[in-house]
Amino acid sequence: MIFDSLAGFFSSDLAIDLGTANTLVYVKGRGLICSEPSVVAVAKDNTGRGDKVLAVGHEAKEMLGRTPGGIRAIRPIKDGVIADFEITEAMLRYFIQRAHNRRKLVRPRIVICVPPCITSVEKRAVRESALSAGAREVYLIEEPMAAAIGAGLDVTAATGNMVVDIGGGTTDVAVISLSGIVTSRSIRCGGDAMDEAIINYVRRKYNMLVGERSAEQIKVTIATASDAAKSSTMEVKGRDLVAGIPKVVVATSDEIREALMEPLGQIVETVHLTLEKTPPELAADIVDRGIMLVGGGSLLGGLDVVLRQETKLPILRSEDPFTAVVHGAGRALDNLELLKEVAIQ
Ligand SMILES: Nc1ncnc2c1ncn2[C@@H]1O[C@H](COP(=O)(O)OP(=O)(O)OP(=O)(O)O)[C@@H](O)[C@H]1O
Ligand SMILES: [Mg+2]
Repeated sequence: MIFDSLAGFFSSDLAIDLGTANTLVYVKGRGLICSEPSVVAVAKDNTGRGDKVLAVGHEAKEMLGRTPGGIRAIRPIKDGVIADFEITEAMLRYFIQRAHNRRKLVRPRIVICVPPCITSVEKRAVRESALSAGAREVYLIEEPMAAAIGAGLDVTAATGNMVVDIGGGTTDVAVISLSGIVTSRSIRCGGDAMDEAIINYVRRKYNMLVGERSAEQIKVTIATASDAAKSSTMEVKGRDLVAGIPKVVVATSDEIREALMEPLGQIVETVHLTLEKTPPELAADIVDRGIMLVGGGSLLGGLDVVLRQETKLPILRSEDPFTAVVHGAGRALDNLELLKEVAIQ
C-alpha cells in the first residue's frame, strides 16, 4: 500500500493510444509527449534468447521494407488488435521509459485505448502486457469513447453522439450516450486497406509493384474520395513486374479514386448499418448534432463530402484527428471520476 502510493508519487501516469499505424503517449501534467509509428525493428539474438529489439518508432519505420537479412521491422498491432504480444510489451516498455526519461523502477497508472470489438482474452493480454512492461494499475477505455471525449463531446449526457474513427487498421463507428457505447460496428478496413487497394490497382493497371510507403504517399498526396474535387497527378516509382527493373508512371486523382472505391464503399456502408441499428431517440440527436470524424484516415480528401451526400447528415471533423483518442484518454486520466465511469472491465 505504502509502496503503491510512493510509486504513484514518483511516476507520471500515462494514457496510451496503441494504434495500428501510430502510438501516442500522453503524460499527466505534461500532455502529449510522443507520437511514433507502431513499428519495432528486431534482430535474431545469436545467443538463442529470442529477438533483440533494435529500434522502436520512427527509426524502426524507416527500416520497413529495407531491412537486410536477420533484421525484421514488425508492426505488432494488426487490424486494431495486438498480433504480437512480446513485441507489444517491448514497445510499451520503451514508451513508459521514454515518459520517465529512461528512469527505471517507476510504476505508472496507465490508461490504454482498445478497440470496441476486443475479446476478453485480448483484454487480459493487453492488461498483462502493460503490467509486465511496468504498469502499476491498468484501465482500458474503448477507442470511440476516448475519441468522443477528445473531440470535445459530452459523453456523460443523455444525448446520442456518433463517432467515426478511420484509423490505419480499422474503422470504428459508434453511438455514445450516458457514458456508454450504445451501438457500434468495427470493420478491418481503414488507411492500410486503402494503401493495399492502391498497390493492387497500380499492379493491375501498370504492371508495376509499389511499396506500402509509396502507396501511402500517393493516398496522402493526390487521393480524393469525391469526384467534385480538383484532380491532380503524381509521379509514382516502383518495380516493373515484367522487366523487373525500376520504373516511373504518372498517376491521377481520378485513377486513385477508382482504386479506393471498394474500401470507401465499406466505410460508408458501415456508417449506414450503424445508423440503422441506432435507437430512434438517439438517431434524432444525431440528425441535429451530426457525425464526428476522427482518425488519420478521415483526412482523406473529399471523404466528408461523400459522407454528407450519402447520409444527408452534418459531418464534422475533430480538430486534430490523429490525437483525439489519446487526448480523450488523457482527459479521463486527469478526471478519475470520469475514468471510472467510462473504463471497461
Ligand atoms: N492526409 C491523409 N489522407 C488520408 N489518409 C491519411 C492522411 N494522413 C494520414 N492518413 C492515414 O491515416 C492512418 C493512420 O491514422 P491513425 O493514426 O488514426 O491510425 P491508428 O490509430 O494508428 O490506427 P487504428 O485506430 O486502426 O489502430 C494511416 O493509414 C495513414 O496513411
Ligand atoms: Mg486509432
